[in-house]
Amino acid sequence: MHKVLIDCDPGHDDATAILYAARHLDLVGVTTVYGNQSVDKTTANALSLLTLLGLDVPVARGCDRPLNHSFSHGGDVHGKTGIDGADLPAPSRAALDMHAVDFIIETASRYREELVLCPIGPFTNVAMALRKEPRLTKWLRAISVMGGTTQVGNTTPVAEFNIWSDPEAADIVYRAGVPMWMAGLNVTRQVGITEDDIKRLQAGGSVARVFGGLFSFFLARLREIHGINSASMHDSCALVPFIAPDLITYRECPVEIELSNGLTRGMTVCDFRNLTAAKLENIRSRAAPNCHVAVGVKARPLVEHIMEAILDWPEPKSAT
Ligand code: RIB
Ligand code: CA
Repeated sequence: MHKVLIDCDPGHDDATAILYAARHLDLVGVTTVYGNQSVDKTTANALSLLTLLGLDVPVARGCDRPLNHSFSHGGDVHGKTGIDGADLPAPSRAALDMHAVDFIIETASRYREELVLCPIGPFTNVAMALRKEPRLTKWLRAISVMGGTTQVGNTTPVAEFNIWSDPEAADIVYRAGVPMWMAGLNVTRQVGITEDDIKRLQAGGSVARVFGGLFSFFLARLREIHGINSASMHDSCALVPFIAPDLITYRECPVEIELSNGLTRGMTVCDFRNLTAAKLENIRSRAAPNCHVAVGVKARPLVEHIMEAILDWPEPKSAT
């Protein structure tokens, strides 16, 4: 069973990814970062969620802003708490007395060549860990992200939120040379929880009912803001290569991050061209492939796999 550390900004879809990972993988740690809300709130949300799920997975609090610039929390898609829509239990424990960057390094050192690192919020913690400990590039088995897009963005016309929040951090991660998988909006937006799915959750056990409430809020916000008619399970897609690899198809190609301060800042530029040497004159040459980019998904089977993990979650002891 693969060992995974999730770096996240819970966030409705982050919460689902944590449950999905805990159901199918060896979730050895959770680190938190600013993004959907402040890092204080995302940390509290992670601890509350793990309390709800009855999981004793260590949580380490991370960065509160991007590497090089200020940041203001949207707070609109995921609500004021960052995970509006249901009452989560108060955390049964505190975060570790260790920064997320140090916890990532320590965990990768403990599980050398085994650990899969999954950034599903802005990549600031991961970038700082790679800078502080360059041996991470040898210790990590893989980095599998929710981030970027091969088509339309969400935060800008061409940039996805996790990358747009800290493009310099993303650039460090994509250049690190660690085997990398990327689930971008082009695929993750297809993986949506519908109204009917929400009804199934609301008729389920206590954990399923909590997620039914969370998704009901999240779906309403996505409808209002993006005109989307299902609650996108963006972050769970980052886990798929290690849980159900047949559900998403990938193409290995060069991915570079736009760092200019213009219209395309934060764009993940994926080079799918099939250049041959003869065509290189007057054409920008192709960088070396650095990432397996998600290009297709069996969306309904993946939604059902996520739904099964939620519906089958055992009743917490407090609820029995
Ligand atoms: O663009 C989608 C990403 O931004 C997801 O990770 C979501 O949780 C938000 O962080
Ligand atoms: Ca997220």
